[in-house]
Order: sequence, then C-alpha cells, then structure tokens
Amino acid sequence: MFIRGRRLRQNENIRNLVEETSISVNDLIMPIFLIDGKNKVEKVPSMPGIHRKTLDKQLEDIKSAIDLGINAIIIFPAVDEKLKDPLGKEALNKKGLIPKSIRAIKKAFPRILIITDVALDPYNSDGHDGVLKDGEILNDKTVEILCRQACIHAEFGADIVAPSDMMDGRVAKIREALDRKGFHNTAIMSYAAKFASSLYGPFREALKSELKNGDKKSYQINPKNYREAIKEILLDEAEGADLLIVKPASFYLDVIKTSSEASMLPIVAYQVSGEYSMIKAAADKGYINNDSVMRESLESMKRAGASAIITYFALEMASLLNNK
Ligand code: PBG
Repeated sequence: MFIRGRRLRQNENIRNLVEETSISVNDLIMPIFLIDGKNKVEKVPSMPGIHRKTLDKQLEDIKSAIDLGINAIIIFPAVDEKLKDPLGKEALNKKGLIPKSIRAIKKAFPRILIITDVALDPYNSDGHDGVLKDGEILNDKTVEILCRQACIHAEFGADIVAPSDMMDGRVAKIREALDRKGFHNTAIMSYAAKFASSLYGPFREALKSELKNGDKKSYQINPKNYREAIKEILLDEAEGADLLIVKPASFYLDVIKTSSEASMLPIVAYQVSGEYSMIKAAADKGYINNDSVMRESLESMKRAGASAIITYFALEMASLLNNK
C-alpha cells in the first residue's frame, strides 16, 4: 500500500496543516428581529434563543455582537397588524420602525454594517413579498415600491440593501434608483437564488408575516431546480448586484458551490430559520451536540464556497470562536 490517507490525519498538528476551510467572526452576519416600543422582549417559540426585541434591547445585543467581533447585522421588522394593508404602505413610512432603527443603530455604533431586507411581506396584509391583485403578485408595481423602500433605507444609513422578494428585474431598477439619489456607495446584496422552501416557517412566525393564503411559488424558485437557480445568480450579477445570496443554505450546498464558481461576486449563504430550529430542537432533545453541529453546518457552507453566512447562530458561534 503506497497511499495511506491516514498519514495526514494522524495527529492534530498535521490535520491543522492540511485543513482546507476555516471560519471566523468576520464571516458572520447576525439577523435581528425588531418590534416597536421600549423594553420589550418576546420569545420566538419555534426558535429557541431568538427573540423579538425593541430597539433599546437590540442595541444591547448588537453591543455584545460587536464585542465578539461581529461586523454585520441584518434587520427585520415585526410590524403591528394594524399598520398592514394590501400595498404594504408602511414599508415607505420614513417614521417607521426600520428607518428609525437604522439611524439609532448607526448613531450608537457607527462602524457596524447594517443590512436591510427589501420586500413587502412584513408590511402587507397578505404576507406576500409583493402586491397581490386578483390572485397575481404584480411584478412591476412591486418593483416600483421596492425601489422607494431601498432608497429610504439608504437615506437613513443602511450600508447594504438586500432585496428578498424575487421579483424580476428589481436589482437593476434598485441600482438605478439608488444612483439617481446619489447613493452610489450603498451596496446591493440580492437574494438571487431564493427557493420556495418549507424552512421559512419559524421566521414567518417571528415576524408574524404568515401567508394568509396561497404560497410563494410564483416568485421563489422550485426547490427541485438547480439550473434555474444558477440562471438567477448570473442575472442578478449582470443587473449590478454586489453580493449574491443563496437561501436556504444546507439543503442547497450544490447551488452555493456552483454559484461561487460561476460568479466572481461574493456568495452569501443564508442559514434560514428552519435550519436553525432543526438543529436546536435535536440538540435540546440530546440527539445531537449543539456546538459541534452548529460549527459543522456553518463550515460546510464555507467549504461549498460561501464568503459569508447569515445565521441565527451568529452570537453563539462568535462566542465559541472567541473561546477557542
Ligand atoms: C421575506 C424573507 C423571508 C426570509 C427572509 N426574508 C421569508 C420568506 O420569503 O417567506 C426567511 C428567513 C428565514 O427563514 O430565516 N422577504
């Protein structure tokens, strides 16, 4: 036997020497769920360890994140039911939760990168990412609103806007709208390959943005389709996106891998709510070890080619990395 693969695995030093993938706090993007008001913390039952919080409370979490070396957050609003309507008008309210929060977070922590979600689902009464009319999600009408939403986020200080709606042509239109208003330094991180996955359930519970009826299959990608996902990746690159998201991550590592080869833009993996909940639930039962499975799941995304990862484990993973 000439070839013995185990030679390179025989002790920790040699294993470390040939290690191909590493993960650091620089790779982590922390999602936060905001609610209006003061001094309120609400559990998200399907996501143990994750809470909806008012801005004052989230500022404390952001401080802990920064202390652990996290550089980026992505913020999501849980909007009061009373403020929702079919057009999602609250998305364009400059006094709304998101503009107000961006400004306050930037004031408290000028260097943290703030990423905002651009889509209508937290704001419209149907729970859809776009405007619903006679059973159809209107593409172009939605894109017009998203352009205005993105500009408001940029105006209040967002560093990166992240359209998650999957309407056609929105990246180019948002780029144009941002540039027209002078926001040429605001980057676009597009949810380029976003699948119509069943793993978003806990997130919709967190934002109280459950669909009133129907599904998102007329705009999100069929989970069975790989080539279509790569097509969307290439399209968003051509339209002027700066970073590209593949979402969910763990069931879609093939898409992350090819995306990172087909495009030279940074690929961001989104480990979504259901992925987090599955690991948490199994760990709570003692079936798997939380820390090592968390680490392995995130490392697998890096191995597949992701440059960064949006993950509800951000704080936990950052503390693990700080202790070892
Ligand atoms: C909505 C949006 C969703 C997520 C991020 N932005 C849900 C959806 O498309 O229904 C999902 C995130 C998660 O599950 O963690 N525009």
